[in-house]
Amino acid sequence: MTDKHLFQRTTLNRLSLKNRLLVAPMTRISASVDGVPGERMQQYYQRFAQGGFAAVISEGLYIDEAWSQTYAFQAGLANRKQAIGWRSVTDSVHQHGGKIIAQLMHAGALSQGNIYRPETLAPSAIRPRGEQLSFYHGHGAYRLPEAMSEAQIQQVIDDFAESAARAIGSAGFDGIEIHGANGYLLDQFFTDYTNQRRDSWGGDLLARLGLTLAVIAAVRARIGQDVTLGIRLSQGKVNDFQHKWAGGEASARQVFARLATSGVDYLHLTEYDALQPAFADSPLSLVQIARAAAPGLPVMANGSLGDAETAGMALHQGAEYVAVGKSALANPDLPLRIRQGLPLREFDKNLLVPSADVKNSELQA
Ligand SMILES: Cc1cc2nc3c(=O)[nH]c(=O)nc-3n(C[C@H](O)[C@H](O)[C@H](O)COP(=O)(O)O)c2cc1C
Repeated sequence: MTDKHLFQRTTLNRLSLKNRLLVAPMTRISASVDGVPGERMQQYYQRFAQGGFAAVISEGLYIDEAWSQTYAFQAGLANRKQAIGWRSVTDSVHQHGGKIIAQLMHAGALSQGNIYRPETLAPSAIRPRGEQLSFYHGHGAYRLPEAMSEAQIQQVIDDFAESAARAIGSAGFDGIEIHGANGYLLDQFFTDYTNQRRDSWGGDLLARLGLTLAVIAAVRARIGQDVTLGIRLSQGKVNDFQHKWAGGEASARQVFARLATSGVDYLHLTEYDALQPAFADSPLSLVQIARAAAPGLPVMANGSLGDAETAGMALHQGAEYVAVGKSALANPDLPLRIRQGLPLREFDKNLLVPSADVKNSELQA
C-alpha cells in the first residue's frame, strides 16, 4: 500500500478528513484540578494540527460530576466551564486545519483520583486486578467498588449523552468517541470476570456489550445522525495487559457484527501490535476479523503503527484509518515528515510523561 492511500482525503459521516492519520487518545492529566483545559493543552493539541494530522482524538474526558473521573488533573466534559475551556482548544485545532474528536470515558472501578467522590462504581463489587497507576499519581490496590444500581446505570447512559451534546455544542468538537476499551467502566461491563451481574446487563457476550450499545444509542439520539461517532475497544486493559476475549475469533466476530448495526460510524481497535494475530486460534488480526465480520463499518487501527510502513500495512489489512500514539508524541508533525520523506524521531520514554507540556518535543524540533 502506498503513501498515496495514506494521504487520500476521506469522509467519516460528514467529517471531511484530509488523510487517514489521526492522533490516538492520550491522557495528559494537565487540566486544572477541576478538569478545565488551559493554554498548554491548547498548544499541545494545536501542534498535531500544524503537523498535518487529519484529526486528533482527545484524551479520555470524564462525563459527570460524580464517579466517572479517573485521574487527578484529568480534563472533563461534565459541565459548562470545562466545555468552554475546550472551546479554545478546538478553535485552535480548527484554525490550524485539523479536526478534533472528543473521547468520553467513565472510570468505573479504575477511578484513582476523583475530586467529586472517593467511592468507585462497577458492574459488580469485585476489586480490580493490578494496582493503581503510579504514573498517574496512584498507589496501592484499587478500592473495592460498589455494584451499580439500575438507576446508576441509567444515569451513566444519560451522562454520556449529555456530555456528548456539550462536546458538539459549546465545546466545538467535530465528533465523539466512546471509550469502551482499556478496562474502564464500559469494558468492565463487557469483561466476563468483572461483570458477574444476574440482571439484563450481565450474562453472555452480547448481554455484557449491552451497556456499550445503550450508550451508543443514547449518544446517537442526542447528537443526531450527522455527527461522527465512534467506539473504541481493546482486549488489553491498563490493569491487565494480557487479557484476551474469551471465545477468540468467533466472539470477536459476534461483537463486531453487532456493533455494525449499533449506530456508530467507526470502530477503533487498539492492540499492542495491531498487525499481529489477535488470538491463538486464528491467523487474523483484530482489524482483519472486523473487516470480515462487519464489512460496512470503517475500522480505525491503533497499536505500533507509528510510521509509513506499518500504517500502510494496517490499511492493507483493511483499516480505513490509523491512530498513532507514542510516535505522534515524538513526531507531532508525523504526516508532514512522511510526506516529505524526512526521518522520524525515535520515541523516547521521557516523552511519555503524562503532561501536555510541549517542551519535550520542542526540544527536538
Ligand atoms: C501516555 C498515554 C496516555 C494514554 N491515554 C489514553 C486515553 O486517554 N484513552 C485511550 O483510549 N487510550 C489511551 N492511551 C492508549 C493510546 O491511545 C494507544 O492505544 C497506545 O499508546 C498504543 O498506540 P501506539 O503504539 O501508537 O502508542 C494512552 C497511551 C499513552 C502512551
